[in-house]
Amino acid sequence: MGYVNMGEMLAGAKAGRYAIGAFNTVDAMTTEAVIRAAEEKRAPVIIQTSAKTVKLYGAKPLAAMVIALAKEASVPVAMHLDHCKEIELIRECIAAGWSSVMIDASSKSFEENVALTAEVVALARPQDVTVEGELGAIVGVEDDIFVNEADAHLADPEQSVEFVERTGVDVFAPAIGTAHGVYKGKPVIAFDRLEQIAARVPAAVAIHGGTGLSDEVFHRCISLGGAKVNVSTQIKHAFRDSLSDYFEANPTDYEPVKVLAYLREQTKATVATFIETFGSAGTV
Ligand code: 13P
Repeated sequence: MGYVNMGEMLAGAKAGRYAIGAFNTVDAMTTEAVIRAAEEKRAPVIIQTSAKTVKLYGAKPLAAMVIALAKEASVPVAMHLDHCKEIELIRECIAAGWSSVMIDASSKSFEENVALTAEVVALARPQDVTVEGELGAIVGVEDDIFVNEADAHLADPEQSVEFVERTGVDVFAPAIGTAHGVYKGKPVIAFDRLEQIAARVPAAVAIHGGTGLSDEVFHRCISLGGAKVNVSTQIKHAFRDSLSDYFEANPTDYEPVKVLAYLREQTKATVATFIETFGSAGTV
């Protein structure tokens, strides 16, 4: 148990047709909330950090905090660098102890994406670090990456197979119509593509844009082969809403410890619900 990479947990999810939740955290409280929810639900879990968060703390202090909490966990916990475009930052995170990284070269040409992603796999593999790559363009805002609807395009199944073969990624994020951030209308998911891609690639398939999808959509994506589901925006909302709710209910309170404990409980409840939906509860 404790601190691991994403390999074994995603292999289990892929085989068992459930998904592991990957939750973006920003501090010790949100990280602890995710780990506690996973422990309560007996599920493996992935703590994701955005490149922006890494830059805020510095790679070493952030890794020290997350890894210390992960090592104490009674369930497997991976630490994954979400959507990173900079190979130097990826190197720094691998050196600092991340067990998994994502290289997002999806805005580049297919050949450049393959080359950069393969370079990251070559860096990561000797350190037992798992790698996620992306193909197509997922609409919305994630960290400093903004893709508008006109530029969004879905991953092609043939190219997906070639991408995974040539790069050797452990986890593959194909654009299938989900979006980062809050959905503006009803999401249109290309279930057929997801099915074709998941059936043909040896890598575990990641579903991005988990915030705002219905349970029905989650269940369908997971039954078609989605093995990792990313959730970020909902955690940000839990963070912000719990702080404002707390201060509204306790306007004269100047005790940070109480508000942090409240934030942790609210975030934990949010995460626990996702873990139930993803079907990974009770798998540890
Ligand atoms: P949401 O912000 O829509 O939950 O998406 C998260 C994500 O896919 C992170 O990579």
